[in-house]
Amino acid sequence: MFKITRVSPSIIASNWQDKNEVIKTLKELEKSGAHMVHLDVMDGVFVKNKTFDYNYIDFIKNNTNLLLDVHLMVANPENVIDEYIKAGADILTVHYEATKDLQKVLERIKAKGILAGVAIKPKTSTMKLKDILASGLVDVVVVMGVEPGASGQAFIPGSAEKVAEVRELDKNVFISIDGGVNLKNAKILKKFGANILVSGATIFNSKNMKKTIKALKGRILFNGFNSEE
Ligand code: DX5
Ligand code: ZN
Repeated sequence: MFKITRVSPSIIASNWQDKNEVIKTLKELEKSGAHMVHLDVMDGVFVKNKTFDYNYIDFIKNNTNLLLDVHLMVANPENVIDEYIKAGADILTVHYEATKDLQKVLERIKAKGILAGVAIKPKTSTMKLKDILASGLVDVVVVMGVEPGASGQAFIPGSAEKVAEVRELDKNVFISIDGGVNLKNAKILKKFGANILVSGATIFNSKNMKKTIKALKGRILFNGFNSEE
């Protein structure tokens, strides 16, 4: 599982409100070596900003073959997960801080045959995940490198070490790092165990998305494997 680094471009850093532009962006990402597309759902409650809901996910699903990596920054995700599963999420991530019954939420996601993710905010300790990781219900841990709510923020120091802590707790879970990922910190993040790199500003502000995605994947040895396919 560790031999491939997957890159998940975060669409909110692009011109996502213009549907014709988004369709073009998706086609370009498909040709650029991205494995999936990261979709940040913000409800204006769990985070200040509001982005889109399941209708937009449905629109994306109808316009790409990329896997949909849906990151729910919403309070009480148990009330809405069914809509996102129906809309076509392939990975559905909820926040540890957003629900009182994480286990049940993850069980419901996994019962639908898609991957279940748990995201932790910068101030949430990785140790909080110990029991839920042991339960086997988590496919992806999303370690936030910034406070959730916006793209283009600076990486918070210490977030890479949190990736290493999660890898220590679980050798097999996918670890996604989300927020502030750039060409400089990508290497250490992969070395510490991240195998999904979410990236908004670094990809969409670059002149050549394909080259940037390739550079994010890089060439490192991890557990004896090369990170490239
Ligand atoms: C932050 C979002 C991130 C964000 C990443 O709330 O979860 O996915 O879009 O963007 P960059 O890579 O620009 O920090
Ligand atoms: Zn995100």
